Amino acid sequence: MVRLPKSGKRVGTVVRLTAVPWRTTEYAHSPKRQEFWRNIPRSAKSRTMSVHTASQSTLDPSETKKFQLLADKWWDVQGEFAALHSMNDLRVPFIRDNLLNVHGGQQWGRPLSGIRILDVGCGGGLLTEPLGRLGAYVLGIDPVEDSIRTAELHGSFDPALMERVHYRACTLEELSEEEAEGFDAVVASEVVEHLADVEIFACCCHQVLKPGGSLFITTINKTYLSYALAIVAAERILRIVPNGTHDWEKFISPVDLERLLESNGLSSESVRGMLLNPLTGSWRWTESTAINYALHAVKQRQEPQPERAQSPAETEGHTGEAEARAGGAPGPGAGHN
Ligand SMILES: C[S@@+](CC[C@H](N)C(=O)[O-])C[C@H]1O[C@@H](n2cnc3c(N)ncnc32)[C@H](O)[C@@H]1O
Repeated sequence: MVRLPKSGKRVGTVVRLTAVPWRTTEYAHSPKRQEFWRNIPRSAKSRTMSVHTASQSTLDPSETKKFQLLADKWWDVQGEFAALHSMNDLRVPFIRDNLLNVHGGQQWGRPLSGIRILDVGCGGGLLTEPLGRLGAYVLGIDPVEDSIRTAELHGSFDPALMERVHYRACTLEELSEEEAEGFDAVVASEVVEHLADVEIFACCCHQVLKPGGSLFITTINKTYLSYALAIVAAERILRIVPNGTHDWEKFISPVDLERLLESNGLSSESVRGMLLNPLTGSWRWTESTAINYALHAVKQRQEPQPERAQSPAETEGHTGEAEARAGGAPGPGAGHN
Protein backbone atom coordinates (compact mmCIF):
# COMPACT_ATOMS: atom_id res chain seq x y z
CA MET A 1 0.00 0.00 0.00
CA VAL A 2 1.32 3.44 -0.88
CA ARG A 3 1.64 5.62 2.22
CA LEU A 4 1.55 9.35 1.96
CA PRO A 5 4.52 11.33 3.22
CA LYS A 6 3.27 13.65 5.98
CA SER A 7 4.32 17.16 6.71
CA GLY A 8 6.20 17.68 9.97
CA LYS A 9 9.20 16.08 11.59
CA ARG A 10 9.36 12.32 11.34
CA VAL A 11 10.15 10.55 14.64
CA GLY A 12 10.29 6.78 14.24
CA THR A 13 6.97 5.78 12.73
CA VAL A 14 5.16 8.73 14.28
CA VAL A 15 5.17 12.21 12.81
CA ARG A 16 5.59 14.98 15.36
CA LEU A 17 3.39 17.86 14.34
CA THR A 18 4.46 21.13 15.83
CA ALA A 19 2.86 24.43 16.81
CA VAL A 20 -0.67 23.56 15.69
CA PRO A 21 -2.74 23.71 18.87
CA TRP A 22 -5.54 21.38 17.79
CA ARG A 23 -3.27 18.54 16.85
CA THR A 24 -3.02 15.73 19.34
CA THR A 25 0.59 14.75 19.55
CA GLU A 26 1.50 15.61 23.13
CA TYR A 27 1.50 12.02 24.12
CA ALA A 28 2.56 10.58 20.77
CA HIS A 29 5.67 8.99 22.25
CA SER A 30 4.55 8.50 25.82
CA PRO A 31 3.71 5.30 27.70
CA LYS A 32 0.11 6.55 27.67
CA ARG A 33 0.08 6.33 23.91
CA GLN A 34 1.35 2.76 24.03
CA GLU A 35 -1.36 1.99 26.56
CA PHE A 36 -3.91 3.42 24.15
CA TRP A 37 -2.79 1.09 21.36
CA ARG A 38 -2.81 -1.90 23.75
CA ASN A 39 -6.38 -1.22 24.86
CA ILE A 40 -7.93 -0.37 21.54
CA PRO A 41 -10.87 -2.63 20.56
CA ARG A 42 -8.86 -5.10 18.49
CA SER A 43 -11.83 -7.41 18.27
CA ALA A 44 -13.58 -5.00 15.95
CA LYS A 45 -13.11 -7.31 12.99
CA SER A 46 -14.23 -10.48 14.68
CA ARG A 47 -17.09 -9.16 16.79
CA THR A 48 -20.60 -9.35 15.41
CA MET A 49 -21.78 -5.99 14.11
CA SER A 50 -22.73 -3.67 16.91
CA VAL A 51 -24.50 -0.75 15.36
CA HIS A 52 -27.35 1.46 16.48
CA THR A 53 -30.36 1.70 14.21
CA ALA A 54 -33.68 3.53 14.21
CA SER A 55 -36.81 2.94 12.17
CA GLN A 56 -36.74 6.09 9.99
CA SER A 57 -33.06 6.17 9.57
CA THR A 58 -30.04 7.78 7.97
CA LEU A 59 -28.25 4.48 8.47
CA ASP A 60 -26.99 2.43 5.58
CA PRO A 61 -25.77 -0.85 7.10
CA SER A 62 -23.28 -1.45 4.29
CA GLU A 63 -21.66 1.89 5.13
CA THR A 64 -21.43 1.33 8.87
CA LYS A 65 -19.96 -2.10 8.22
CA LYS A 66 -16.98 -0.48 6.46
CA PHE A 67 -16.25 1.66 9.49
CA GLN A 68 -16.80 -1.21 11.92
CA LEU A 69 -13.90 -3.01 10.24
CA LEU A 70 -11.66 0.04 10.65
CA ALA A 71 -12.67 0.98 14.20
CA ASP A 72 -9.20 0.36 15.63
CA LYS A 73 -7.45 2.44 12.97
CA TRP A 74 -8.66 5.95 13.73
CA TRP A 75 -5.57 7.28 15.48
CA ASP A 76 -2.96 5.86 13.14
CA VAL A 77 -1.89 9.17 11.61
CA GLN A 78 -0.29 7.37 8.67
CA GLY A 79 -3.04 4.80 8.23
CA GLU A 80 -6.41 4.61 6.50
CA PHE A 81 -7.61 7.86 8.04
CA ALA A 82 -4.44 9.90 7.36
CA ALA A 83 -6.36 12.26 5.05
CA LEU A 84 -8.87 13.01 7.84
CA HIS A 85 -6.06 13.82 10.28
CA SER A 86 -4.54 16.31 7.86
CA MET A 87 -7.96 17.73 6.92
CA ASN A 88 -8.06 19.20 10.45
CA ASP A 89 -5.71 21.91 9.18
CA LEU A 90 -8.61 23.30 7.14
CA ARG A 91 -11.77 22.20 8.89
CA VAL A 92 -10.86 23.17 12.45
CA PRO A 93 -10.11 26.83 11.57
CA PHE A 94 -13.14 26.86 9.23
CA ILE A 95 -15.43 25.84 12.09
CA ARG A 96 -13.67 28.01 14.68
CA ASP A 97 -13.67 31.19 12.60
CA ASN A 98 -17.27 30.87 11.44
CA LEU A 99 -18.40 30.21 15.02
CA LEU A 100 -16.47 33.21 16.28
CA ASN A 101 -18.15 35.35 13.62
CA VAL A 102 -21.54 34.22 14.91
CA HIS A 103 -20.88 34.03 18.65
CA GLY A 104 -17.97 36.46 19.11
CA GLY A 105 -14.61 35.76 20.74
CA GLN A 106 -14.37 34.38 24.23
CA GLN A 107 -11.51 33.28 26.51
CA TRP A 108 -7.93 33.51 25.24
CA GLY A 109 -6.69 30.11 24.14
CA ARG A 110 -10.18 28.68 24.44
CA PRO A 111 -12.09 30.75 21.90
CA LEU A 112 -15.02 28.35 21.71
CA SER A 113 -15.75 28.26 25.47
CA GLY A 114 -19.43 28.15 26.20
CA ILE A 115 -20.33 26.80 22.75
CA ARG A 116 -22.08 23.43 22.56
CA ILE A 117 -21.21 21.38 19.47
CA LEU A 118 -22.61 18.08 18.21
CA ASP A 119 -20.13 16.12 16.06
CA VAL A 120 -22.26 13.70 14.02
CA GLY A 121 -20.45 10.63 12.70
CA CYS A 122 -17.44 11.45 14.88
CA GLY A 123 -15.70 8.12 14.29
CA GLY A 124 -12.67 7.95 16.59
CA GLY A 125 -12.94 11.61 17.60
CA LEU A 126 -10.38 13.04 15.14
CA LEU A 127 -12.30 16.30 14.87
CA THR A 128 -14.17 16.09 18.19
CA GLU A 129 -11.00 16.36 20.26
CA PRO A 130 -9.52 19.46 18.62
CA LEU A 131 -12.87 21.26 18.89
CA GLY A 132 -12.87 20.41 22.61
CA ARG A 133 -9.31 21.74 22.87
CA LEU A 134 -10.60 25.08 21.59
CA GLY A 135 -12.85 25.18 24.65
CA ALA A 136 -16.16 23.96 23.19
CA TYR A 137 -18.35 21.42 24.91
CA VAL A 138 -18.55 18.66 22.28
CA LEU A 139 -20.74 15.59 22.06
CA GLY A 140 -19.48 13.11 19.47
CA ILE A 141 -21.95 10.53 18.21
CA ASP A 142 -21.48 7.62 15.86
CA PRO A 143 -23.59 4.52 15.15
CA VAL A 144 -20.52 2.26 15.28
CA GLU A 145 -19.95 1.35 18.92
CA ASP A 146 -16.36 0.24 18.43
CA SER A 147 -15.45 3.63 16.98
CA ILE A 148 -17.00 5.33 19.99
CA ARG A 149 -15.00 3.02 22.25
CA THR A 150 -11.82 3.99 20.42
CA ALA A 151 -12.72 7.69 20.76
CA GLU A 152 -13.38 7.32 24.49
CA LEU A 153 -10.20 5.40 25.05
CA HIS A 154 -8.14 7.97 23.18
CA GLY A 155 -9.77 10.84 25.03
CA SER A 156 -9.26 9.17 28.39
CA PHE A 157 -5.56 10.03 28.24
CA ASP A 158 -6.46 13.70 28.52
CA PRO A 159 -8.84 13.89 31.50
CA ALA A 160 -9.07 17.71 31.36
CA LEU A 161 -10.30 17.47 27.78
CA MET A 162 -12.83 14.81 28.69
CA GLU A 163 -14.58 17.27 31.00
CA ARG A 164 -15.78 18.96 27.80
CA VAL A 165 -15.77 16.08 25.28
CA HIS A 166 -18.24 13.22 25.52
CA TYR A 167 -19.20 10.39 23.22
CA ARG A 168 -22.27 8.33 22.60
CA ALA A 169 -23.04 5.44 20.26
CA CYS A 170 -26.29 6.51 18.59
CA THR A 171 -27.70 8.05 15.45
CA LEU A 172 -28.65 11.68 14.95
CA GLU A 173 -32.29 10.73 14.58
CA GLU A 174 -32.24 8.98 17.98
CA LEU A 175 -30.59 11.97 19.64
CA SER A 176 -32.82 14.56 17.99
CA GLU A 177 -35.81 13.28 19.94
CA GLU A 178 -34.23 14.25 23.28
CA GLU A 179 -32.00 17.18 22.25
CA ALA A 180 -34.33 19.61 20.49
CA GLU A 181 -32.58 22.98 20.05
CA GLY A 182 -29.76 21.74 22.27
CA PHE A 183 -26.69 22.73 20.23
CA ASP A 184 -25.05 25.93 19.00
CA ALA A 185 -23.44 23.98 16.17
CA VAL A 186 -23.65 20.66 14.39
CA VAL A 187 -20.62 19.27 12.58
CA ALA A 188 -20.85 16.44 10.04
CA SER A 189 -17.47 16.05 8.42
CA GLU A 190 -17.12 13.43 5.68
CA VAL A 191 -20.39 11.83 6.80
CA VAL A 192 -23.09 12.94 4.35
CA GLU A 193 -21.65 10.70 1.62
CA HIS A 194 -22.24 7.66 3.85
CA LEU A 195 -25.91 8.25 4.73
CA ALA A 196 -28.96 6.35 3.54
CA ASP A 197 -31.12 9.48 3.64
CA VAL A 198 -29.75 13.02 3.58
CA GLU A 199 -33.23 14.54 3.92
CA ILE A 200 -33.78 12.93 7.34
CA PHE A 201 -30.30 14.06 8.30
CA ALA A 202 -31.05 17.70 7.35
CA CYS A 203 -34.35 17.62 9.19
CA CYS A 204 -32.70 16.26 12.37
CA CYS A 205 -29.88 18.83 12.14
CA HIS A 206 -32.51 21.55 12.10
CA GLN A 207 -34.22 19.99 15.10
CA VAL A 208 -31.14 19.78 17.33
CA LEU A 209 -29.81 23.25 16.44
CA LYS A 210 -30.70 26.36 18.41
CA PRO A 211 -32.18 29.16 16.26
CA GLY A 212 -29.23 30.93 14.64
CA GLY A 213 -27.05 27.85 15.21
CA SER A 214 -24.46 26.68 12.67
CA LEU A 215 -24.22 23.53 10.59
CA PHE A 216 -20.80 22.57 9.21
CA ILE A 217 -20.52 19.91 6.54
CA THR A 218 -17.55 18.69 4.59
CA THR A 219 -18.27 16.25 1.80
CA ILE A 220 -17.59 15.33 -1.85
CA ASN A 221 -19.18 16.83 -4.95
CA LYS A 222 -20.89 14.61 -7.52
CA THR A 223 -18.78 15.31 -10.63
CA TYR A 224 -16.78 13.29 -13.14
CA LEU A 225 -13.67 14.77 -11.55
CA SER A 226 -14.65 13.55 -8.09
CA TYR A 227 -15.17 10.08 -9.53
CA ALA A 228 -11.75 10.17 -11.19
CA LEU A 229 -9.87 11.60 -8.20
CA ALA A 230 -11.76 10.61 -5.03
CA ILE A 231 -12.56 7.07 -6.15
CA VAL A 232 -10.28 5.90 -8.97
CA ALA A 233 -7.09 7.74 -7.95
CA ALA A 234 -7.45 7.99 -4.14
CA GLU A 235 -8.96 4.54 -3.53
CA ARG A 236 -7.83 2.27 -6.36
CA ILE A 237 -4.46 3.66 -7.42
CA LEU A 238 -2.88 5.61 -4.56
CA ARG A 239 -4.75 3.81 -1.75
CA ILE A 240 -4.98 7.04 0.24
CA VAL A 241 -8.31 5.73 1.54
CA PRO A 242 -9.38 2.07 1.58
CA ASN A 243 -10.89 0.75 -1.65
CA GLY A 244 -14.69 0.81 -1.53
CA THR A 245 -14.92 3.64 1.03
CA HIS A 246 -16.99 5.81 -1.29
CA ASP A 247 -20.00 5.27 -3.49
CA TRP A 248 -20.21 7.98 -6.18
CA GLU A 249 -24.01 7.73 -6.22
CA LYS A 250 -24.05 9.11 -2.66
CA PHE A 251 -22.00 12.21 -3.47
CA ILE A 252 -23.94 15.46 -3.59
CA SER A 253 -23.27 18.77 -5.33
CA PRO A 254 -23.08 21.96 -3.25
CA VAL A 255 -26.13 23.32 -5.08
CA ASP A 256 -28.25 20.26 -4.31
CA LEU A 257 -27.07 20.21 -0.70
CA GLU A 258 -27.80 23.91 -0.25
CA ARG A 259 -31.26 23.45 -1.75
CA LEU A 260 -32.00 20.51 0.52
CA LEU A 261 -30.79 22.41 3.60
CA GLU A 262 -32.76 25.50 2.61
CA SER A 263 -35.95 23.46 2.41
CA ASN A 264 -35.21 22.33 5.97
CA GLY A 265 -34.77 25.85 7.37
CA LEU A 266 -30.97 26.03 7.06
CA SER A 267 -29.51 28.88 4.98
CA SER A 268 -26.14 28.38 3.37
CA GLU A 269 -23.64 31.07 4.39
CA SER A 270 -20.49 29.88 2.64
CA VAL A 271 -19.13 27.05 0.52
CA ARG A 272 -15.40 26.56 -0.03
CA GLY A 273 -13.51 24.10 -2.19
CA MET A 274 -10.85 21.88 -0.61
CA LEU A 275 -8.04 20.06 -2.39
CA LEU A 276 -5.82 17.23 -1.16
CA ASN A 277 -2.26 17.11 -2.44
CA PRO A 278 -1.63 13.37 -2.80
CA LEU A 279 2.15 13.85 -2.65
CA THR A 280 2.34 15.81 0.62
CA GLY A 281 -0.91 14.54 2.13
CA SER A 282 -1.88 18.11 2.97
CA TRP A 283 -5.05 20.00 2.16
CA ARG A 284 -5.51 23.53 0.89
CA TRP A 285 -8.44 25.78 0.08
CA THR A 286 -9.24 26.16 -3.60
CA GLU A 287 -11.67 28.15 -5.74
CA SER A 288 -13.11 24.98 -7.19
CA THR A 289 -15.70 22.90 -5.35
CA ALA A 290 -15.51 20.18 -8.02
CA ILE A 291 -14.13 17.56 -5.64
CA ASN A 292 -14.20 18.23 -1.87
CA TYR A 293 -15.93 21.16 -0.25
CA ALA A 294 -16.85 22.63 3.12
CA LEU A 295 -20.20 24.26 3.77
CA HIS A 296 -21.47 26.48 6.58
CA ALA A 297 -25.22 26.93 6.98
CA VAL A 298 -27.22 28.69 9.67
CA LYS A 299 -30.57 27.74 11.12
CA GLN A 300 -33.06 30.43 10.28
CA ARG A 301 -34.32 32.18 13.38
CA GLN A 302 -37.92 31.97 12.29
CA GLU A 303 -39.68 28.94 10.93
CA PRO A 304 -40.32 29.24 7.17
CA GLN A 305 -43.66 31.01 6.72
CA PRO A 306 -46.43 28.68 5.56
CA GLU A 307 -47.79 29.66 2.18
CA ARG A 308 -50.29 32.48 2.68
CA ALA A 309 -53.74 31.71 1.37
CA GLN A 310 -54.95 34.23 -1.17
CA SER A 311 -57.94 36.47 -0.61
CA PRO A 312 -60.91 36.18 -2.95
CA ALA A 313 -59.85 39.47 -4.60
CA GLU A 314 -56.37 38.08 -5.25
CA THR A 315 -57.72 34.88 -6.71
CA GLU A 316 -60.01 36.69 -9.12
CA GLY A 317 -59.24 35.39 -12.55
CA HIS A 318 -57.17 32.50 -11.18
CA THR A 319 -57.92 28.85 -11.84
CA GLY A 320 -60.53 26.95 -9.92
CA GLU A 321 -57.78 24.82 -8.43
CA ALA A 322 -56.09 27.86 -6.87
CA GLU A 323 -59.40 29.05 -5.52
CA ALA A 324 -60.14 25.69 -4.04
CA ARG A 325 -56.69 25.63 -2.35
CA ALA A 326 -57.13 29.12 -0.89
CA GLY A 327 -60.68 28.69 0.27
CA GLY A 328 -60.98 25.00 0.85
CA ALA A 329 -57.72 23.97 2.48
CA PRO A 330 -55.96 26.93 4.05
CA GLY A 331 -52.57 26.38 5.66
CA PRO A 332 -52.02 27.03 9.36
CA GLY A 333 -51.09 30.65 8.65
CA ALA A 334 -54.17 31.45 6.55
CA GLY A 335 -55.48 34.72 7.92
CA HIS A 336 -58.19 35.56 5.48
CA ASN A 337 -61.82 35.92 6.49
C1 LIG B 1 -15.32 9.14 6.88
S1 LIG B 1 -15.82 8.88 8.52
C2 LIG B 1 -15.65 10.51 9.20
C3 LIG B 1 -15.35 10.49 10.67
C4 LIG B 1 -15.18 11.87 11.32
N1 LIG B 1 -16.30 12.72 11.05
C5 LIG B 1 -13.90 12.50 10.84
O1 LIG B 1 -13.96 13.26 9.89
O2 LIG B 1 -12.85 12.21 11.40
C6 LIG B 1 -17.58 8.66 8.42
C7 LIG B 1 -18.22 8.36 9.75
O3 LIG B 1 -19.63 8.44 9.60
C8 LIG B 1 -20.20 7.43 10.38
N2 LIG B 1 -21.56 7.16 9.91
C9 LIG B 1 -21.96 6.31 8.94
N3 LIG B 1 -23.31 6.35 8.82
C10 LIG B 1 -23.74 7.27 9.72
C11 LIG B 1 -25.03 7.75 10.09
N4 LIG B 1 -26.14 7.31 9.48
N5 LIG B 1 -25.11 8.66 11.07
C12 LIG B 1 -23.99 9.14 11.66
N6 LIG B 1 -22.76 8.71 11.36
C13 LIG B 1 -22.63 7.80 10.40
C14 LIG B 1 -19.27 6.26 10.25
O4 LIG B 1 -19.44 5.31 11.26
C15 LIG B 1 -17.93 6.98 10.30
O5 LIG B 1 -17.46 7.08 11.61
